[in-house]
Amino acid sequence: MKIAVLGDIHSNLPALEAVLREIKNISPDAVFFTGDAVGYGPWPGETLDLLRETVHAGVLGNHDAAVVGKTDVSDYYDAVRYVINWTIDSLSNEQYGFLDRLKYIHSESEKGSFILSHGSPRMPERYDYVFSSKGVNRLYEVRQFLKGVNFVGHSHYMNLFVMTGDDKSIELNISSKDVSVDYPNPVICVCGSVGQPRDGDNRAGFVTYDTEKKRVQFHRVEYDIEKTIKKIKSLKLPGSFGERLRNGY
Ligand SMILES: [Fe+2]
Repeated sequence: MKIAVLGDIHSNLPALEAVLREIKNISPDAVFFTGDAVGYGPWPGETLDLLRETVHAGVLGNHDAAVVGKTDVSDYYDAVRYVINWTIDSLSNEQYGFLDRLKYIHSESEKGSFILSHGSPRMPERYDYVFSSKGVNRLYEVRQFLKGVNFVGHSHYMNLFVMTGDDKSIELNISSKDVSVDYPNPVICVCGSVGQPRDGDNRAGFVTYDTEKKRVQFHRVEYDIEKTIKKIKSLKLPGSFGERLRNGY
């Protein structure tokens, strides 16, 4: 079984379309979603329509939760809250309902055995970041709930960690883009971002996982960034959410 895992799309439709074209070529058995369909970007409804058609299962990101009133946004900065409110007004009942039905965590056992969460799976409704060994080491507290591979988003980075069984973890080198996850202890895969990468590479990111070979592949795909910037400008949404896409930060 081969699966694709994508997330942090943030209403960036050209990025999602480019990723789905690449996924079509790869032809996985199922596509999974690690949350944050919306927020920042200008095509929330279209993004949700495409996800509803494509995704086998997914989880609620913090921006998604903000739109459906399930997380406190009082400490978010004004521009983020502005787009969240604009997104709420943009969605149809069906699109809103899709977001509202997403859970904080998904444990898959049919199309492979793995967990999806947006932030840390330890207390997924808190949206703690996992992008360093420090965050991974806290997962020993919920060790019994983890699976062999655990996919997370939220940081918009790409990383791979393996828990070493002694309350510690190591970060694996992913520069080969095709990495074995065949370990006796849980692996945490940080899946990157389709619509707003922050690792200095402005291409859309997603991962695939071969459940038999136990290998994860990290993918990056070019898309029409200027189209997204133009749309953000035309809707008078905060311009910085467009400009940052050029640099991948
Ligand atoms: Fe995000």
